[in-house]
Parts: sequence; structure tokens; C-alpha cells
Amino acid sequence: MKNFINQLSVVLDPKYILITDEDKAPYLTDWRKRYTGKASAVLLPSNSSEVSNIVKLCAQNQISIVPQGGHTGFCGGATPDNSGNQVILNFKRMNQVREIDVANQTMTLEAGCILQTAQEKAAEQGFLFPLSLGAEGSCMIGGNLATNAGGTNVLRYGNARDLCLGLEVVTAKGEIWNGLKGLRKDNTGYDLRDLFVGSEGTLGIITAAVMKLYPLPISQWTTLVACESVSSSIALLNLFQRRATSLLTGFEMMTQESLELNEKHFPQMANPLQGKPPFTILIELSDHESENHVRQLLEVILEEAFESKLINDAVIASNLSQANAFWHMREHITLAQAEEGANLKHDITIPLSSLDSFIEETDALMRSQYPGVRIINFGHLGDGNLHYNIAPPPGVDAKIFNESYEKPIHELVYAQVERCNGSISAEHGVGQLKLDGLRAHKGEVAHDLMRALKRALDPQNILNPHKVVSI
Ligand code: FAD
Ligand code: MLT
Ligand code: ZN
Repeated sequence: MKNFINQLSVVLDPKYILITDEDKAPYLTDWRKRYTGKASAVLLPSNSSEVSNIVKLCAQNQISIVPQGGHTGFCGGATPDNSGNQVILNFKRMNQVREIDVANQTMTLEAGCILQTAQEKAAEQGFLFPLSLGAEGSCMIGGNLATNAGGTNVLRYGNARDLCLGLEVVTAKGEIWNGLKGLRKDNTGYDLRDLFVGSEGTLGIITAAVMKLYPLPISQWTTLVACESVSSSIALLNLFQRRATSLLTGFEMMTQESLELNEKHFPQMANPLQGKPPFTILIELSDHESENHVRQLLEVILEEAFESKLINDAVIASNLSQANAFWHMREHITLAQAEEGANLKHDITIPLSSLDSFIEETDALMRSQYPGVRIINFGHLGDGNLHYNIAPPPGVDAKIFNESYEKPIHELVYAQVERCNGSISAEHGVGQLKLDGLRAHKGEVAHDLMRALKRALDPQNILNPHKVVSI
């Protein structure tokens, strides 16, 4: 290993090769504090050629590489294993916006560009970069693409994959593939870009990307409404989809139990709706044309929803700070869960037509088999994406609870997901957390194809091994 580190210092300034325990520590544990690994070194390259040279050296020495962005992922994908033989390739120094192409409505970003920086730089030029998630102050565009991140704007603008037009990737051999074309049409054979997006660092290392931009909306209205049931929440979504069409940019759901946990840890985030509704829905409409049109439309749709008894209370944010407060309430549920202690996450998608029966049956099974558990169910309802998270009964030690019940609780939820033809990972990816679950979920044929791809693109198995699939 010493010899390998010496070779590295020829291709990377030694001050960016971190080898002391103290220097490496911040990179070794994931955001949820679920996984801690070891690494022989943390490498901080500043450009694609350095990445390429590092990968070539790793390939020669059979050293595996764990790419890492903001390390906010929920599936342990960016955390090394315990062997101590892996290196972490962290992208924080490759953080530049290379170009904003106004006519083409695209921006070219280095992999380590923080998502919020990308949004801000786009806004400075009058554009919206619509990818948006709770971790946007620290996650990076390379990580967003590697996980095919979703977030709160998918309903209108799609996930990271939908926003990506081109990539620059360092392959497992250390070659640089320049696919940084900002083309909206390109049918030249297999889509390599789509292969790398969502591959969680297992097929190639993303060093830069061309992303789509949109006009900034001039008017946004945010409202919280109270629904009594899942079926009325979905009927409400369909009403908004019909009446507001592309002006509907957000449709998020929070159960009463999720908001109780929020209020416990963030008392300033009390729900402004009356009487603790079972389902609080956050709806956002955005318009590019007129200030008033969208507000009037929102009022008309809400009136119709009241009349059809789909909702029984609503509060429209009267200014930007109130709108932000509504969004903070939604985004703080994840932070409240982290404050509360370890929980069992299920990031699932269910077809909207089965969502009602999924929640009703899974809640009933969960409550009868694990009395007292808290079902922290919230998420991107507009996408059919639930964060169906399970916290232990109040007062029960989370570590002991999870040791005993993690496996059967996952099995219960995933059996229900299969029954409804859903997915066990909507937006967070697979990483190491769902490595075993993936095989059963995808079936032999799909799983074997994935392994064949991995073997073809990374025959030495040096790119983030034992994440997503094992070969
Ligand atoms: P990391 O965690 O560093 O890495 C994630 C994976 O990508 C790893 O497998 C890693 O090896 C790989 N990777 C990283 N960079 C590269 C690269 N340059 N090339 C190749 N592979 C790479 N996710 C959502 O989808 N929607 C949400 O709404 C959402 N909300 C969140 C809220 C909070 C508070 C937090 C903490 C997380 C949330 N997440 C959400 C999860 C997380 O933020 C996303 O998965 C994000 O895309 C990860 O980006 P990152 O830069 O932190 O990647
Ligand atoms: C979110 O949407 O806030 C996160 O993806 C959900 C989570 O914490 O599970
Ligand atoms: Zn989410």
C-alpha cells in the first residue's frame, strides 16, 4: 500500500492525498450513521485527467475505488467497506460550473458542483435548474446523477436522468469518455449516458455533466390542505393534474404521525391546518406568464375540492417566507427522524391506482404485527413515491428494535410492494443497503443482465464493488 501511495503522489499533489486517521475520518461514515468503513486514502482530484490517472493506477494495483460526492446518500453507496484496501475519490474540488449555454438552455457542471450552487448560478442567468431535494446544500451533481436523484420537482420536470443531456465519464480502464453534448436528440446506438446515470459509481466515474435548464417561473403559490384519506388525496392530485396541468410543480404528502415527530423535534414547525388531519398535502403551482392567473386558478381548484369533499381545510401561503415555512415543514421530517434515532427506511413507488390499498393494508399489518411502531409515512405523492419509514415504539431503543425486526419489517413492506407491482427503490438507489433485496426484486433475468454489464464495463471489479450488484 505504501508503494501505491507513493505512485499516487506522482499523479496527485500529496496534500490532496489524505492518509491520516484524523484527515480521513469525515469521509468514512454515511449521513445516516449506519455504515462506517475504512480507506487506505481519500483522494481529492481537481480535474478529469487526475481522475483518469488515479483510476489507471488503481487498475494496475487492483485497488478498488469508492466515488463520493456530498456523502448524503441513504444507501451506503459512497461509504467504503471494512477491508482498508479501498480508496475514496471525493469530488469536492471539482466544483465548477464550466458553462451556461443560454441559447441551448443547458449548463455544464463538474461532478463536485453542489446542487444548490448549480441552482443559484442558473438563477443568476434567469434560468431554473429544477432538481431540488432536502440535501441540496451539500449533495453534488455527480452524486445526484449516480443515484438518479428525485426530490420535489419530479412531477413537473423529471428526475436527474430526465434532466441530463450529456456526461463525461472516466471508465474502469481510466479512459475519458467525452459525451458532453447538449443534444435533445441523439439516436446513435446504445445510450451510454443512461447506462451511467443511476449506476452509483459501479460502471464509471462521472466527472462532468450537461444539464437542462428551464425558464424561471415568475409566480409560485404554495398551499397546505387537509385530506381525510389516501383516496381523497389521490382524487385531489388527479383534479390538480386535470385543471392545472403543467402548472402543478409539487404535490407532497405528510401523515399526522410524520408531522408529530417533526413538532417534537422542531416545535416551531407546527402544522397551520386545524385539527390534526390524517393527511396534510403540500401543493405548489408555478406560472411563467402572469402573477394573478395562477393564484386565481388555485382558488378555483380548491373551491371545487371543498365542494367535492376532497379536502376540509386549506391554507394558502400569503408570502414567500410562509411558502418556505411550508416546504421546511415537509423537508424537516427527514431531519426529525435523524434526531429521533435510527429508523427503517423504505423508499418505494407504487402505481397511484394501488396506493390506497397499499397504505391501508400495510399499515394494518404493521400495526398488528409490531404494536406501537410509528409509521413515518410521507413523500412525493405526485410520483407515487412514499417514504414509508418505520420508527420503534416510543421509549424502545432503536438499535435493539432494528436488530430484532429490521429483516421481517423490510420483508413485510417489500412483499406488499411486489403485490402492488411497485419498486423497492424509487429515488435513493441500492448501494449496499438493498444489494440483497435487488436480486429478488428484479428477478433472475434482469439481475443477470445487470451483472453482465458490470463485468463488461469493469472486469477487474474495481469500481465501487459490492454496491448495487455483486459479480
Ligand atoms: P453520495 O452520497 O456521495 O454518493 C451516492 C452514490 O453515488 C454512491 O454510490 C457514490 O459512489 C456515487 N457517486 C457519487 N459521486 C459520483 C461520481 N462523480 N461518479 C460516479 N459515482 C458517484 N434523495 C432523493 O432522491 N430525493 C430526495 O428528496 C432526497 N432528500 C434527501 C434529504 C436529506 C436531508 C438527505 C440527507 C438526503 C436526501 N436524499 C434524497 C438522498 C441524497 O441526497 C441523494 O441520493 C443525492 O443524490 C446523493 O448525492 P451525494 O453527492 O451526496 O452522493
Ligand atoms: C425526502 O424526500 O425528504 C427524503 O428523500 C426522504 C427520507 O428521508 O426518507
Ligand atoms: Zn424523497
